[in-house]
Amino acid sequence: MAIGVFDSGVGGLTVHRKLAERFPSADLVYLADQANAPYGGRPGEEIVELTRAGCDRLFDQGCDLVVLACNTASAIALRRLQQTWLPQRRRELARPVNVLGLIVPTIEAATGLPWEHEAERRGDKVEKLDILAVFATPATARSRVYEIEIDKRRQDVAVFVEPCPDLARMIEDNAGAVELAQAVETHVAQITARIGRAPDRAILGCTHYEIIADMFRAALKPGTPLIHQPDATAAALAGYLERHPEIDPGSDGLRRFLTTGRPGAQHDLVQTFWEGPLSFEPA
Ligand code: DGL
Repeated sequence: MAIGVFDSGVGGLTVHRKLAERFPSADLVYLADQANAPYGGRPGEEIVELTRAGCDRLFDQGCDLVVLACNTASAIALRRLQQTWLPQRRRELARPVNVLGLIVPTIEAATGLPWEHEAERRGDKVEKLDILAVFATPATARSRVYEIEIDKRRQDVAVFVEPCPDLARMIEDNAGAVELAQAVETHVAQITARIGRAPDRAILGCTHYEIIADMFRAALKPGTPLIHQPDATAAALAGYLERHPEIDPGSDGLRRFLTTGRPGAQHDLVQTFWEGPLSFEPA
């Protein structure tokens, strides 16, 4: 058996890399739905259907567990699939398959609180607001998941979300460094103007953006801490596997990279991030 890692494209590689470091002997199958990327500008129903199809492909490849290394799929599709599709799929496959997202671990990392914690609403005056900027796809931004879930837990944190409609596509298309840096600077300037000052912390709330994290670091106020989704997701998976011994992550250290798009060598931006050649097989 194996663990599946799913994204619309190459962004989930940022999560895959941390999972591979943390679970060197696990068998990992990565699926990029590049035929349909990016997801961030699509209507919700399409995102749900594409995510379901991606999870199914990974179950067919022998994965018991799929990690959605994609904020858009996690924000829009995960709860729906867990409630309406997975129970029946488990019965059909007669295996304990499951799908996990990365928003819960990111919110836990951002709040410093376990997911189960909900703050008592006491209406106390908050003396100092911790301003958290989230850069995300339009679909993730529209879901308001970061504002809602953080506000439930921490009233001293104010969340501002900046939708970045073109960034994931530019990264998929191997856009040049100058063009990418300009786009990032524009988004940082926009959110800073909206807040009225520089944010105290930031979440790169689309896994594609982690590939160009240095550009965000350069555009944000020097030293702005970034909450690191790949680390948070790897830590959450470790806890999950401990609590669920029925999930078999495999033990051969197998690495497979599948795409629904054009197979073959990935482009320069990805290989630079990957620090070596990376080739995808047809899904
Ligand atoms: N990497 C994805 C995310 O984390 C999806 C980007 C997209 O397909 O628009 O949101």
